[in-house]
Amino acid sequence: MQVIESKIDKSSIEYKENFEHNRRLAEELKKELEIAHTDRSDKALKRLREQNKLTVWERIELLLDPNTPFLEIAPLAARGMYDGKVHGAGMVSGIGVVHGREVVVYANDPTIKGGTVYPMGVKKALRTQTISMENRLPIIYLVDSGGAYLPLQSEIFPDADDGGRIFYNQAQMSKMGIPQICAVMGLCTAGAAYIPAMSDEVVHVQKTGAIFLGGPPLVKAATGEEVTADELGGAEVHCIHSGVSDYMAVDDEHCIQIIRDIVKALPPPQKVEIGQREPRPPLYDPEELYGIIPKNIMTPYDVREVIARIVDGSEFLEFKTLYGDTLVCGWAYIFGYPVGILANNGVLFSESALKATQFIQLCDKRGIPLLFLQNITGYIVGKEYEKGGITKDGHKMVNAVATATVPKFTVIIGASFGAGNYGMCGRAYAPRFLWMWPNSRIGVMGGEQAADVMVTIKREQFKREGKGELPEELVEKIRRPIIEAAEREGNAYYSTANLWDDGILDPPKTRDVLSLAISASLNAPIRSDVYGYGTFRM
Ligand code: COA
Repeated sequence: MQVIESKIDKSSIEYKENFEHNRRLAEELKKELEIAHTDRSDKALKRLREQNKLTVWERIELLLDPNTPFLEIAPLAARGMYDGKVHGAGMVSGIGVVHGREVVVYANDPTIKGGTVYPMGVKKALRTQTISMENRLPIIYLVDSGGAYLPLQSEIFPDADDGGRIFYNQAQMSKMGIPQICAVMGLCTAGAAYIPAMSDEVVHVQKTGAIFLGGPPLVKAATGEEVTADELGGAEVHCIHSGVSDYMAVDDEHCIQIIRDIVKALPPPQKVEIGQREPRPPLYDPEELYGIIPKNIMTPYDVREVIARIVDGSEFLEFKTLYGDTLVCGWAYIFGYPVGILANNGVLFSESALKATQFIQLCDKRGIPLLFLQNITGYIVGKEYEKGGITKDGHKMVNAVATATVPKFTVIIGASFGAGNYGMCGRAYAPRFLWMWPNSRIGVMGGEQAADVMVTIKREQFKREGKGELPEELVEKIRRPIIEAAEREGNAYYSTANLWDDGILDPPKTRDVLSLAISASLNAPIRSDVYGYGTFRM
């Protein structure tokens, strides 16, 4: 494979300015993550200690093998929503290693409103289960939750992808043979009681853990019966009498130890072999990405400079270099794993779409995971291109992306606009994981462009209705809210708060995160049984 030759001038003003800018964005991200991990009220922390419970992070640390990475999912979910304090949507989830085996962790944070589940918490719970299902990873639920966050109950309860789906998924996962191990580490009420009930094995902590469909206040209100939480659903009730729980633990530490023992006793994972090589670092320092990513998202640059800082040895076998050159396609290795990369280098034309379609088919046939580096304003528009069939060629690419069955990974490294988002494997196209860089932007189109479209429509309407020219003050009135909304809702933080992605990445860490994700994906068969494509419009 050829080594990508970098043409970056590290002494240029542009490089230095970019470096400063992107470094600042990375610092901001670090601060945001720090807040999400540590900003808890003294009251909640005090209550936790009174109950002799560990924090969610202490639990996770004890659960995972020492000095192994934890790939956290959506740590900034629900950022800025509700009272601004429901960090991570009230739960921590991710992929970690227990006794050398990759598992999904799903843990309520009892220091955020008693671990209750907000609407975004439901979304994150479902996403976490999807990761477990798609990658066939055992899932460990550390449950400590008062169930639904009652003031928002109508947004959590009745719909197809609301709370009930969590337990529906548990039944499906059980059928699929995905191990589900649950720790009862707090008073698990109502919905939270169903998680242990639907799991394969339940470890129950004495005194602090309880499972009941209705807590003592509800029982009193409904039947007049006075009962303590422990008498109603404690470890003795469920381990000795009801049989709901399978193992009794004296405290959090003991509970986590039992869970580790259960994982150790599982049959070994059957990971897929895809021809992994000896990993090698890139030839160029990934930190240089700070100097390469332009300050202005619309400034063009050669995406090979990014690839050179992500792949092993900066080696890249480029496919159809001279054809459809606004899309760079080719083969490389990341931490020794083979990948097929598709990376934008401009607007998508018919040729680039056709090239993508062919390349995706090749990777899919050969069982090579696909990596999309998305920086796209969309497919080319205009009379000439419509005549040339851009719509049908774009369709072929979108069709191939949608139906390819090898694991797909997407990193939005810049713009993610319009159908470009679809063709480059946006969230709706089922990549196993999708992340954003802090500089990236997402939307149907940029704010300026959307505002111009709306002004043009209004101008035409005025003319048609004989009202003459559109007054200047109305132009501003139309433009401003559209531009402001795009500014507010098009950035990476808004995206990640809404769980449109699995997290924001510090660009130099992209390679490490991808290697963890690819490794996790190999727990599932490399291709599904439904391999094949629909009809390509010719
Ligand atoms: N909805 C909304 N907020 C809730 C809640 C719920 N279901 N359950 C608890 N909270 C809030 C409390 O109001 C409190 O808020 P504050 O910090 O602003 O005062 C916070 O969560 C902690 O609750 P607290 O009772 O002080 O802590 P705890 O550790 O002693 O008990 C629970 C936590 C969850 C076990 C307990 O609050 C409880 O039993 N809640 C009711 C559970 C329930 O009936 N759920 C039915 C859902 S369908």
